[in-house]
Amino acid sequence: MYRLMMGLHSYLREKLLQEYLFPVNYNGYNGNMPATLARVNNTIKRSITPPPRYPDGKRLIKTETEPTPGCTIEPVKIGAATVYNQDCLTIFKKLTDNSVDLIVTDPPYFLDGMDNNWSDTKLKRKKDKSHVIGGLPVGMKFDPKQGIRLQEFFTKVSEEALRVLKPGGFMIAFSQGRLFHRLAIGAEDVGFEIRDMLMWEHNGGQGKAFTQDHFVKKMKMSGVKKQELITILQGRKTPQLRPKFEAILLAQKPKEGTHINNWLKWKTGLIKTDFEVSQTTVFNFEKPHREKTIDHMTVKPLGLMEQIIEVFSIEGQVVLDPFLGSGTTGVAALNKNRKFIGFEIEKRYFDMSVGRLSKHG
Ligand SMILES: C[S@@+](CC[C@H](N)C(=O)[O-])C[C@H]1O[C@@H](n2cnc3c(N)ncnc32)[C@H](O)[C@@H]1O
Repeated sequence: MYRLMMGLHSYLREKLLQEYLFPVNYNGYNGNMPATLARVNNTIKRSITPPPRYPDGKRLIKTETEPTPGCTIEPVKIGAATVYNQDCLTIFKKLTDNSVDLIVTDPPYFLDGMDNNWSDTKLKRKKDKSHVIGGLPVGMKFDPKQGIRLQEFFTKVSEEALRVLKPGGFMIAFSQGRLFHRLAIGAEDVGFEIRDMLMWEHNGGQGKAFTQDHFVKKMKMSGVKKQELITILQGRKTPQLRPKFEAILLAQKPKEGTHINNWLKWKTGLIKTDFEVSQTTVFNFEKPHREKTIDHMTVKPLGLMEQIIEVFSIEGQVVLDPFLGSGTTGVAALNKNRKFIGFEIEKRYFDMSVGRLSKHG
């Protein structure tokens, strides 16, 4: 009986402390965090800062990623390219400090399954049902938590990126316009200097705005009133203009001393501008046609990646892409006579990039 009473007492005490006395606010999210409790001077104190969680108690992101079965931690070497089929956060640890000259990457958007546990099979399954993912075409679903998850993940990536880059070296990362700030803050918080926002201007993405007619038709009101409302809302759509560009983050690891000192020691930090047409912040390249070329959902134009590599590095230097996808950055790096290191978590994409790199070699 005594044991039962004590057990009940301790259960109630924990519940009271967790749910009523220590509500936690993290980045605007109020959630009840599990706390480690300790008795100090006869008062109960919470002894750790709990990990960030949503109100429903779920963690913001998984800290452990799940590599696709069949992944290997051993690299595949193809000429001047070394690629790993693994989670980037695991393989980053294999690289030594100040060993990379340039990072060019296109990280997952943390939307519709395109996150750090990107599963091509799962995405395909969803898409095959109706040619859309989660009811809306890929990238259209608005999820306010997406940015928070992306920032948390990208901060970890940036920490490693900063360590492996040489002083003055650049990290160039693609993003959707509405997520750019999350990448920039993640990179800045760990010590990168944000240099600019570049732009990949393309021929235009899928239109995303839609009318409200469908919802009006389902409202409980007379047919006449519905028609009136549709007329009032005519020409109005949800706030999504057709995208014509992708934002690109230009971040730099702080250089050592002056531009000249840094260049003499590391050969980084100064960029190539002597192109036929003066180099601006806007890179204009048509979107590659997915079905016609490479079967990856977010493949980048090869010419764009080549131009970025040419502007921000020199021949013989090491270019790294921690999110290889179909391997476009790798092929561009080899085409421009750079060495290349790449990581890709998804087996099918990894094989695809090995195929593309091998054709080059
Ligand atoms: C936006 S795509 C890159 C596409 C690439 N730019 C191209 O042209 O093909 C991002 C890639 O990152 C991979 N990825 C997601 N999380 C990862 C992780 N934790 N480590 C390594 N790769 C990851 C995904 O499988 C996906 O192929």
